[in-house]
Amino acid sequence: MTGVYYFTGSGNSREIALRLAEELDVSAVDITLSPKIVSADDVAVLVFPIYCQNIPKRVKSFLKESSADNIALIATFGRISYGNVIREALSFTRSTLIAAACVPMRHSFVDEQISFDVSLLSPLIERIQAPCAAGEIPNSKKDALADIFPDMRSRLGMKISHLDSCVSCGKCDFECPTGAIRNGRIGSSCIRCQRCVHICPEHALEAKPRFVLKKYLDKNLGRINEPIIYL
Ligand SMILES: Cc1cc2nc3c(=O)[nH]c(=O)nc-3n(C[C@H](O)[C@H](O)[C@H](O)COP(=O)(O)O)c2cc1C
Repeated sequence: MTGVYYFTGSGNSREIALRLAEELDVSAVDITLSPKIVSADDVAVLVFPIYCQNIPKRVKSFLKESSADNIALIATFGRISYGNVIREALSFTRSTLIAAACVPMRHSFVDEQISFDVSLLSPLIERIQAPCAAGEIPNSKKDALADIFPDMRSRLGMKISHLDSCVSCGKCDFECPTGAIRNGRIGSSCIRCQRCVHICPEHALEAKPRFVLKKYLDKNLGRINEPIIYL
């Protein structure tokens, strides 16, 4: 049995998870909306975004709790840096890694169109269908600052404004992965994943990078454009 799971803020990881689930003829599970779900599959496929070269907390807890025999990890990132997330993810799971990838996508903080060619993941799909242990994952470079208050740096870099068009429907309160929103107002545990901005039916939350983050994005976007696949 194969299960496809995903965590997403701005929708990229969902897009890949849905495409993979379609290829594998299973459904994809949003682990934010299923906080108690534990995978006991033969193969669990987990798709998630990279935040400040780190793994989101909800993804770590999924990895710790899962008792799947095998796992395939697909990390999406905004074409700047992917840190050492695949090796780091291995320290949270008991499952055998069968395949992994870091896939460059549209950056959550930027309004841009980047299309993704699912055929790039064909070798992973073949491995998921005929699982065997992946080779050694090489250490990859992680910036020295990446572990220093990453959530706080994201909050400082990205402003999210609450607009008058909010009708207090509660969708963002319910779907926020860190429970940071009350009546559409963003609290201090926000990680700037952008989920609320993307799901708001009234477009009542607006995100804008502040000057320093904008300069950083202008300078660094598009540094890495090819997927990195580990089999
Ligand atoms: C808080 C935050 C931090 C991010 N940090 C990085 C990063 O370190 N390197 C990078 O290339 N992209 C980074 N990104 C971009 C996302 O990794 C990328 O857009 C990802 O595909 C988003 O997936 P999602 O749409 O499923 O949330 C970051 C995005 C957010 C919201």
